[in-house]
Amino acid sequence: MNIILFGAPGSGKGTQAKFIMNRYGVQRISVGDILREYSNIPTILGKKIKKTMDQGKLITDKIVISSIRKKINQKSCRNGFLFDGFPRTILQAKSMKKENIFIDYAIELDVCEDLIYERILGRRVHISSNRIYHIKYSPPKIRGKDDITGEKLVVRKDDTENIIRTRLMEYKKFTKPLSKFYQMEEKNGNSKYFRINANLSIDQVRFLIKGILD
Ligand code: AP5
Ligand code: MG
Repeated sequence: MNIILFGAPGSGKGTQAKFIMNRYGVQRISVGDILREYSNIPTILGKKIKKTMDQGKLITDKIVISSIRKKINQKSCRNGFLFDGFPRTILQAKSMKKENIFIDYAIELDVCEDLIYERILGRRVHISSNRIYHIKYSPPKIRGKDDITGEKLVVRKDDTENIIRTRLMEYKKFTKPLSKFYQMEEKNGNSKYFRINANLSIDQVRFLIKGILD
């Protein structure tokens, strides 16, 4: 089972991806997490990625596609994979088709703009595990600390109001058109496309996803 999860920043991709991975045994591939790892490597490429991500802009298709290629060829993807935040452009989606990577389910998380700001500005993350919290909607047991390791939680560098604005612009320009793309894919019998109301609570969204994948 190969799945893609796409939606605006803060729509809940990472939150739901962890649940899908555990329930359905598919390998989660978060392009954002992969790129954040690259951005910590002090090479010219790493620095370039860091600069672009810190500005809230998309990384070039070429870099993204080559990093994905490496991942899906790994053994852990034998039972299928779940892309969190890929594809993010029509070119990325088409390149996947060209390489004969088939998507069974394309799930779009649809969320309104007001909630996006509230969710992202309240997000806290545990860097080494990529565990995601929210100060109000998914708080850690101890304020500011990861539930498992007790280590400090941090705010992602691109989680500021200004950068969220840019990320949203990038989303509308490059990623939103995937909605139509996957509707066409469904018409042509290639993938099943679902749009989910992601304004609902974490549990409610999870329930809707179960309804699709169970
Ligand atoms: P990425 O890391 O993917 O960031 P994003 O798309 O902006 O999405 P987020 O991770 O911010 O949000 P999310 O949807 O995962 O929400 P989450 O579950 O955390 O990408 C970062 C950057 O990498 C990009 O800007 C770009 O530069 C680059 N990049 C990545 N992929 C790329 C690609 N394919 N091509 C080119 N460049 C690429 O939830 C958010 C918060 O809300 C959390 O606190 C959570 O607890 C809470 N929450 C979640 N769901 C709910 C709910 N239903 N109700 C209440 N709270 C909720
Ligand atoms: Mg995410």
